[in-house]
Amino acid sequence: MARRKLVYEGKAKILYEGPEPGTLVQYFKDDATAFNAEKRDVIDGKGVLNNRLSEFFMTGLGNIGVPTHFIRRINMREQLIRAVEIIPLEVVVRNVAAGSISKRLGIDEGTALPRPIVEFYFKDDALGDPLVSEEHAIAFGWASQQDLDDMISLALRVNDFMSGLMMGVGIKLVDFKIEIGRIWDGDYMRLIVADEISPDSCRLWDMETGQKFDKDVFRRDLGNLADAYTEVARRLGVMPTNAAPVTKPTLIN
Ligand SMILES: Nc1ncnc2c1ncn2[C@@H]1O[C@H](COP(=O)(O)OP(=O)(O)OP(=O)(O)O)[C@@H](O)[C@H]1O
Ligand SMILES: [Mg+2]
Repeated sequence: MARRKLVYEGKAKILYEGPEPGTLVQYFKDDATAFNAEKRDVIDGKGVLNNRLSEFFMTGLGNIGVPTHFIRRINMREQLIRAVEIIPLEVVVRNVAAGSISKRLGIDEGTALPRPIVEFYFKDDALGDPLVSEEHAIAFGWASQQDLDDMISLALRVNDFMSGLMMGVGIKLVDFKIEIGRIWDGDYMRLIVADEISPDSCRLWDMETGQKFDKDVFRRDLGNLADAYTEVARRLGVMPTNAAPVTKPTLIN
């Protein structure tokens, strides 16, 4: 296979040039990082699980009319996506208090919020992805008011879809993060859901026991991360129980 041309290597994924203009190949690595990459490890099989789960969620979103960058899965670790201009804002939706909102506002983790709360964080590793307001986004030209309104409504549609899907398998969607990008059709611009939707970017708690099935397992040393993600995939029927984590050596890549 011809070697792909590298476009960008991030902490969890690698982007390569796609086969056609306007496309990219997104490769899911096994690397796990937390606290702005201060804590890092390699979790065998994580990339395979996230590739599958992101495919599953994005395909489902596409089926209910939420536009995403997903085109098709190529193999165990790679998917073909539409190249977008990423808006430098992480969009977080919270249903239950956990993580930074609990710390910042002194709300106990696990407290149900009166309504879903949408937050924007400026994508800047050097600054630690700070929380910003719509005013900041508009004043600094990261997004227009119209973009922000569209981003909120996309995020809330993702929240409704993901919450329902998870509830069906006994999991509470506590919060999640998405990235949104612009695509152009001539002069006409649209916003679509990009990056990934996976247990790396969600908080997922078992509805009965409260057990965590997300990246907090890694952040807080609560057990085996691949086992937690495998449980999510198993409940959703995304992968057979014994399909992950993959054993080494592997011919895929
Ligand atoms: N459809 C897309 N088109 C262009 N860029 C994308 C698309 N989907 C995701 N990206 C970008 O690709 C990168 C994915 O890599 P990864 O998630 O590993 O990055 P990261 O280490 O989290 O760093 P970053 O701070 O850039 O997000 C991110 O920068 C993300 O914004
Ligand atoms: Mg990322």
